[in-house]
Amino acid sequence: MIVCLCHRVSDRDIHVAVQQGTNCFEVLQDDLRVASSCGCCHDCARETFDNACAAREQNACTFEAAARA
Ligand code: FES
Repeated sequence: MIVCLCHRVSDRDIHVAVQQGTNCFEVLQDDLRVASSCGCCHDCARETFDNACAAREQNACTFEAAARA
């Protein structure tokens, strides 16, 4: 799904950026330019970013639990 039409940024692009270590929305904006023009996508981009961060945390917890088992 395209999140930002101005810069053709998809939800997948945001998830990949988070998986690669982006942990600040402002950095995401600098890197992908998402929500940096008209701003219409800001809320959706932010929600997608927050969900991607939560998924990353969940995966880290699952990995740690598996490593301890
Ligand atoms: S749709 Fe994202 S900045 Fe315009």
